[in-house]
Amino acid sequence: VLLSSCLSGKKCWSVTYTNQSICALNGSTVKLTCSYTYPRGHKVTSTFWFIKSGNGVKPEDLGQDPEFAGRLEYHGDEKNDCTLRITELRESDSATYKFRFTDQTGKWRYTGDPGVSLSVTGLQVKVTVGHQDKTLTCSTTCTLTDNPTYIWYKNGQHLDESTSTQYKDPVSSNYEDSYSCAVKGREDLRSPAVCEYSTIVQYTT
Ligand SMILES: *[C@@H]1O[C@H](CO)[C@@H](O)[C@H](O)[C@H]1NC(C)=O
Ligand SMILES: *[C@@H]1O[C@H](CO)[C@@H](O)[C@H](O)[C@H]1NC(C)=O
Repeated sequence: VLLSSCLSGKKCWSVTYTNQSICALNGSTVKLTCSYTYPRGHKVTSTFWFIKSGNGVKPEDLGQDPEFAGRLEYHGDEKNDCTLRITELRESDSATYKFRFTDQTGKWRYTGDPGVSLSVTGLQVKVTVGHQDKTLTCSTTCTLTDNPTYIWYKNGQHLDESTSTQYKDPVSSNYEDSYSCAVKGREDLRSPAVCEYSTIVQYTT
């Protein structure tokens, strides 16, 4: 049954993306894990990933796109693996990535839908000053996929770590403090520092 359905076409043509939606850090590396199948008797001769298509636009091989020069690592083969790695991510890389392959005749082409939706975000610290604490928020434009541990810095020094995107630092001085945050494992991609002046309020009765 399997063989006949394969011989008759459509079912055997497939592309599977392990993660259909990924949020990754600006500057980091992302792995688009992918596998594909096709009927027996076909030999795959051409494979590529693309982001631009539709409205009569022919999909263009990302490998030919100068925006991605030197940043793509195709870990796939011409059998079943189509995994792609993109390094030094930029915000402009946010797009839907699809894999496409063609057999030896050039007549059989298959595109894997819906593809992988990739969002690239930077890190930003926001500070809200309360009476006793400063609440720090490490904000991103999408929710980072791999539940990262956040690292907090105060005046350039490691302050603490948390699994939450928020952290409370007690108001302890009348000085201006600078804060930034990062994600464990990619401390090099720290957010810009934000300065916050706070005043210890002395209540008099
Ligand atoms: C892909 O999904 C797996 C399983 O849900 C998860 O462990 C992994 O972190 C995800 N990878 C990315 C790049 O988001
Ligand atoms: C992304 O990284 C680049 C290079 O480090 C930097 O110039 C840019 O400001 C970053 N964007 C954001 C939103 O963090």
